[in-house]
Amino acid sequence: MRKVLYIIGSIAYASLIGCGEQKVEHDYSNADIQFLSNLSLTNLSAPLESESNQYSDSLAAAKMGHRLFFDSDLSSNGSVSCATCHQPAKYFTDGLKRSVAIGMVKRNAPSVLPSAWSHWQFWDGRKDSLWSQALGPFEDPSEHNFSRTKVANHIIKNYREPYEETFTVIPESIYSIVQEIDATPLGTTRQKSLWRKLLPEQQKAINQVFANVGKALMAYQRQLKMQPAKFDGFVDALSTNSLTSSNVLSNSEQNGMRLFLGRANCVSCHNGPLFSNFEFHNIGAPESDKQQVDLGRFSAISALVNDEFTCLSEYSDAEPENCMEMRFLKKKGPELVGAFKTPSLRNIGKTAPYMQTGQFDTLEQVISHYDMPTPPYYNRLQHPSRPHFDILPLKLSEQEKADLISFLQTLTSPIDSDDLWWQAPLE
Ligand code: HEC
Ligand code: HEC
Repeated sequence: MRKVLYIIGSIAYASLIGCGEQKVEHDYSNADIQFLSNLSLTNLSAPLESESNQYSDSLAAAKMGHRLFFDSDLSSNGSVSCATCHQPAKYFTDGLKRSVAIGMVKRNAPSVLPSAWSHWQFWDGRKDSLWSQALGPFEDPSEHNFSRTKVANHIIKNYREPYEETFTVIPESIYSIVQEIDATPLGTTRQKSLWRKLLPEQQKAINQVFANVGKALMAYQRQLKMQPAKFDGFVDALSTNSLTSSNVLSNSEQNGMRLFLGRANCVSCHNGPLFSNFEFHNIGAPESDKQQVDLGRFSAISALVNDEFTCLSEYSDAEPENCMEMRFLKKKGPELVGAFKTPSLRNIGKTAPYMQTGQFDTLEQVISHYDMPTPPYYNRLQHPSRPHFDILPLKLSEQEKADLISFLQTLTSPIDSDDLWWQAPLE
């Protein structure tokens, strides 16, 4: 575990600098300020390089992905789009414990805002890229309840021009197939058998369109930016020696920040400008279904190995030797059991409920759990091994719990109403 850092800085008010604003003196050391800067959005790097999607930074692909993200005709009832569950006004979440569209999804909808900085997608990381992730919801019976032939048909009918300008020409030989046949290797018995009857080159041409739809959606999500939150304003002011009464954090917020970085050690997992290491841990959040426990990262490994759209697949643009995540995939060990990806804490005050199935409704409940965690539920018949437990009780006072929550609330970015990527496209 990382060395715990104790920030000792404190604040005293000084000279008036006009407009009722006061310059604020403080005793944060240079080392403190340096450490805090690592958490500011100002120092957020560009999204991860994507070897497997050569279109990840193409503006044309992003524009097409923007339309696709909000397009509810890509669903069996014509009313479900990605934005049904990832709503811009809710920081790209849906406010539900578990998402609902055609049916109810097993898990809670995370924000997509931090996704371009994470190698693994979904709570269990069962997808190794944002483009491959995007293909899941289309064929999930409780989400879009669509199939890859229907997606391809919709692209041919409504997006052929932007698609062919960005990617490549769609072979006309599949036009009538995708119009007439509802097929996928992942669907119902009938859909699977229809899929098996297609020639390998037909399957490949359909998969290629499907994969490129994912690549466009990935390019779109990489354009989503967050505005600096109150916390970033404070850190940036410390760094530029311009701390004033209008950008300083309150005493309670600063105490919460010290706990977060110090004794409560939240920063050992929630670190960097997005407040996440994007790795997998078991923090013992209560199981929502003890009859069928969620094995998290453990189950994701076989899903990844069998996935048809990973970095190692024929639809990837990467050379296999550059697929580091898949090549060095950790496949075994008790630390995988019941482990979930550390979520970003950006906008956390606005994205309740919390945890992978929305087990907690409020931040108070989350903090109480970290204060006195229940060890992970263990059932020998369901778990291959006793799960590894990653946190220790904190024994916080009521005031300290309140301070931690005040601090978490400073991570909310304002919504920029002029940012067109955050809105449904005009056409
Ligand atoms: C019915 C609601 C629903 C729809 C529709 C939906 N999602 Fe999601 N999304 C979820 C849920 C729930 C999860 C988490 C599932 C899991 O981890 O098993 C998720 C996870 C994600 C993630 C991973 C985020 C992370 O932190 O790991 C991304 C990215 C994403 N969705 C993008 C999309 C895109 C793109 C579409 C449209 C093609 C889409 N979603 C459609 C509910 C939905
Ligand atoms: C060992 C790594 C680790 C530490 C330490 C840790 N967290 Fe987490 N945190 C996680 C993981 C993993 C999850 C998701 C767990 C799940 O869904 O079961 C999570 C979830 C959360 C959530 C809910 C996020 C959401 O979108 O649902 C909040 C809030 C949170 N942590 C805050 C904190 C605070 C505050 C601390 C310090 C008291 C802390 N965490 C310490 C790994 C950690």
